[in-house]
Amino acid sequence: MRGRFITIEGVEGVGKSTNIAFIQSILDGNGIPFLATREPGGTELGEGIRKLLLDKRQRGMTAVTELLLLFAARAQHVEQVIKPALAVGQWVICDRFTDSSYAYQGGGRELPIELITSLEKLAINDFRPDCTFILDMPVETGLSRAENIGEKDRFESEQTEFFNRVREVFITRAKEDKRFHIVDAAQDLEQVQAEIRDVLIPLMDGH
Ligand code: TYD
Repeated sequence: MRGRFITIEGVEGVGKSTNIAFIQSILDGNGIPFLATREPGGTELGEGIRKLLLDKRQRGMTAVTELLLLFAARAQHVEQVIKPALAVGQWVICDRFTDSSYAYQGGGRELPIELITSLEKLAINDFRPDCTFILDMPVETGLSRAENIGEKDRFESEQTEFFNRVREVFITRAKEDKRFHIVDAAQDLEQVQAEIRDVLIPLMDGH
């Protein structure tokens, strides 16, 4: 049976890592084989592209170049890692995916959405997750939580307004498709995880 493809999204500092670890522990507890991966990255080529994307010295990178690099990494990731894992029945838990491109490059960088839609078709033939968690909280709260975690990369160096546009796109997209689950990440962690568990359990039926 094909595995399920789960993605976790959100603005900086919303607690993606903690909740990804939680999702992994639920799958482990239910004996479901999975692969945890991330974007940008997930392959050797993709991790190389990630370094370029996060590098603060790449100040002159245009928004279109950024988008093309993200989709180049993604095309490789989908073919080399994600699809093969799903095909042998593994679940794939991915830290960010195409929804981040809509939010960061479409919302944050204000690139035309049609550009992203076209690339999604061209690069990955509209391959999409089965289930996407959007961890949501006010941008200021997230940014202040993320603040102490070392030197800022090229994205983290953006202003609050940029992240407000990112958040807006996540929320708008989430209303358009049932695969999305918005979780209020400002609640107690216990509550956040109870909501995540309630979504995951029915997905495991028959697995
Ligand atoms: P990530 O490692 O998830 O960073 P963080 O833990 O700080 O949220 O992702 C790296 C950065 O890449 C993040 O700032 C968002 C950005 N990004 C995009 O702008 N577009 C994309 O399509 C993806 C996948 C990530």
